[in-house]
Amino acid sequence: MADQQDWGTPVERKGRLTSVLILATLISAFGSSFQYGYNVAVVNSPSPFMKAFYNSTYMERYGTPMEPELLTLLWSLSVSMYPLGGLLGSLMVAPLVNKLGRKGTLLFNNMFSVVPAVMMGVSETVRSYEIIIVARVLVGICAGLSSNVVPMYLGELSPKNLRGAIGIVPQLFITIGILSAQVLGIRSILGNSAGWPLMLGLTGIPALVELVLLPLFPESPRFLLIQRGDNTTARKALQRLRGREDVEDELTEMRLEHQSERAEGQLSVVRLLSQGSLRWQLISVIVMNMGQQLSGVNAIYYYADSIYGSAGVQERHIQFVTVGTGAVNVFMTIAAVFIVEAAGRRLLLLIGFGVCCVACVLLTIALKLQESVSWMPYISIACVIIYVMGHAIGPSPIPYVVTTEMFRQSSRPAAFMVAGSVHWLCNFTVGLVFPFLERGLGPYSFVLFSVVCLATLIYIWMVVQETKNKTFLEVSQMFAKKNKAELNGGEPLKGSVLGPEGTAECFRSET
Ligand SMILES: *[C@@H]1O[C@H](CO)[C@@H](O)[C@H](O)[C@H]1NC(C)=O
Repeated sequence: MADQQDWGTPVERKGRLTSVLILATLISAFGSSFQYGYNVAVVNSPSPFMKAFYNSTYMERYGTPMEPELLTLLWSLSVSMYPLGGLLGSLMVAPLVNKLGRKGTLLFNNMFSVVPAVMMGVSETVRSYEIIIVARVLVGICAGLSSNVVPMYLGELSPKNLRGAIGIVPQLFITIGILSAQVLGIRSILGNSAGWPLMLGLTGIPALVELVLLPLFPESPRFLLIQRGDNTTARKALQRLRGREDVEDELTEMRLEHQSERAEGQLSVVRLLSQGSLRWQLISVIVMNMGQQLSGVNAIYYYADSIYGSAGVQERHIQFVTVGTGAVNVFMTIAAVFIVEAAGRRLLLLIGFGVCCVACVLLTIALKLQESVSWMPYISIACVIIYVMGHAIGPSPIPYVVTTEMFRQSSRPAAFMVAGSVHWLCNFTVGLVFPFLERGLGPYSFVLFSVVCLATLIYIWMVVQETKNKTFLEVSQMFAKKNKAELNGGEPLKGSVLGPEGTAECFRSET
């Protein structure tokens, strides 16, 4: 009986939400992820004024107004250089995080924000639209790096029982960034001919805040221990993050993870792609990122204004409805933070893609009947809002969380590089193709998006396993069965982790 009681006492301490962990999360998410969202939306509302600036600058230089075709080309370049920069940024992830560390990369990345912020801020004064286009590539690089490195950094800082919730915080700040740009873009605030240079330049502020405050917080202990081999600093970092002296249990778990993959070293992308033992994780991450982008979330935002317009919302009120949609996005992401540890990743992904699929089908029907049935436009608005809610609860935030969780230390940077490239490439493609798609298919373009949602949902249903509250090592063993491949490290390690006795057992037991 006494024996039994000993068994009942919790061997594993639940990771607490310490103030160091909270502040490191908020500062890195505000400094990096916020900017990503802000720059997605920042050029939407002032676009007429910016185009007028392009035109009048051309006029001053060459004495004739700009050809409409050239203006269209330059404007679409200004918009699409951002996701292209994002792709470039993603390609830089693996080398940077392994050299400079996770926190180091975030600090370095601020260069790609402060410089273009100044460039965009002065573009009007120095009368140059070229500066804006170049600056958009640079902030794109900043976004490409942040979108990958913040989830990686926070995922490695968090105790496993909080990893999902903390992993969604970057996405939360992306939505807050979008909302902030929508609010500042209201005509009477900064969305006017005088305000736009300031509005574009404001993106440098979060970068400066991060540059000053983030150095006070610890680097990822996993990076310090595994990549740097620096036991002392890793222990200190972990002690600060967990708010207790004794962190041996977690260090042991990291060492085990390290041991199990020591032979692998740092995986390059090419090695990652050819690694049988990581095949399903990699395919899953690619499918989820494709699903996230090709499900048409940006197209919905793009289309929203015309949907609101046809529902009879007055032109000057549309900006407020847009802000309302942004606010719904923020609130649903907050909800995701609070339910992800209870509901799990898989369920939120399934619900989210399911809701988006249904919303797209209904939207197609509603748009089709728009002309003939008087109340149909309201159904369209409802569909847009339901879609935004569905996307915010799963497809938007969860893929980043899962990318951190499905890979171990040696393959994580390469995995993020692949995931990030897929993400930005799809983002870029939708932006480029959707206008043509809409012209050709009209409302039926949303059928295409619903098919993507459905296909992603089916894949997740069949392949993706729940990763909540598991150590990185346990997740990789779970997938090892699927990959039918032995993990490097072989039998003895497997025994010590899964076996009834041995040090690692305590990490597995839940009670
Ligand atoms: C450029 O500005 C001139 C007036 O300054 C205007 O007539 C012309 O339509 C504008 N061009 C475009 C493409 O907007």
